[in-house]
Amino acid sequence: MWSSARGANVADADGNIYVDMTAGFGAALIGHTHPHVVAALRAQCGRMLHALGDVYPSDVKVALEARLAQMAPWPARVILGLSGADAIEAALKTAVLHTKRPGVIAFEGGYHGLSYGAVAACGYKRAFRAPFARQLNAHVRFAPYADASVDGSLACSLDAVDRALALGDVGAVLVEPVQGRGGVVVPPSGYLAALSERARRVGAVLIVDEIYTGLRRAGGLWRALDDGCVPDVVCLGKALGGGLPVSACVMRDEVARAWGDPDGEAIHTSTFLGNPLACAAAMASLDVLDAPETRSVIDATGAALADALDALARDGALGIVRVTHVGLLAGVTVAGGVARSLAVMRTMLELGYVVLPGGVAGDVLTLTPPCTLTAAQLVGFAQALDASLRAVRP
Ligand SMILES: Cc1ncc(COP(=O)(O)O)c(C=O)c1O
Repeated sequence: MWSSARGANVADADGNIYVDMTAGFGAALIGHTHPHVVAALRAQCGRMLHALGDVYPSDVKVALEARLAQMAPWPARVILGLSGADAIEAALKTAVLHTKRPGVIAFEGGYHGLSYGAVAACGYKRAFRAPFARQLNAHVRFAPYADASVDGSLACSLDAVDRALALGDVGAVLVEPVQGRGGVVVPPSGYLAALSERARRVGAVLIVDEIYTGLRRAGGLWRALDDGCVPDVVCLGKALGGGLPVSACVMRDEVARAWGDPDGEAIHTSTFLGNPLACAAAMASLDVLDAPETRSVIDATGAALADALDALARDGALGIVRVTHVGLLAGVTVAGGVARSLAVMRTMLELGYVVLPGGVAGDVLTLTPPCTLTAAQLVGFAQALDASLRAVRP
């Protein structure tokens, strides 16, 4: 049980202090309890906690939507949500409205949240879909995800995508720029661009799920743009709210028009959509993320994390199968499977470091630290990981 959190540190209910190498599932990219976010929340608390959704939205909701739209390389409209899964639902609905086609291409190992639209496209684990399978979209087709370190996987993935597109019912291609929960799987460069070209050719909507990778965790504000891809819809979440629950589906205006007249009755809304507190936190979080100092800190911390993990991977005695990293998103695949990754997670906790296992087989220690991680904290983490991997044999 956590009782407080600041920067890269969290304290448990007994007062023990840990370094959070997860940033709270990635949400605390700028650090837990960032003072600029807290100040914005205090100010917003004194003004208004709740407005009237889409009917009479709060000023801060309108400002956030405009700011998110400006990030896009095309004229954009935005639908806010409370969770990452909300943003995915909005994106999937947009694709159906725009294309009138029910099919979705999703990827093995992909994770997009667990609401009904999103879980239908969850290639991460069959167990997440299986109990609900009869109620889920039956037009989802899974293709293998291209992995830069696996020969032939690009062609294999694109072939599967081509075969699915040839069926003629696909309205959406839903993809992560790097698979996060799926084990930090990094595709070869040009993969997203190839997907966008294929989607465009058949008039399908390319939805890029930047909920983990976006907002500078894995490069620029949208990692997809770094890869030369121009998506139709981008989903953001996690780091957006600086710790508060808010997400966004950013849509190319031409695609978003399928929602019809914005002055008509909303067919997609909810009571707390665009909650003023969450929007104020997101505006403050974006201020921090846009600051040049933050960008250089993210670059430097990401490079230092990569160096530390690459050094561990070179030590054959540690039982590391592979290390992958992009910015502040890294995965350490351990020999010995999920039993060992869980044992390492527990040993790391005893040493004062919070890490999570991920990957389809559960054998990838997934590291998504806050950018405020100090050099000393990183050195301590690398030493603790070295000791834990030696203590827990494969
Ligand atoms: C890539 C990606 N998409 C969507 C989600 C779902 O977000 P949420 O848990 O906020 O619904 C996650 C959560 O981990 C994610 O990593």
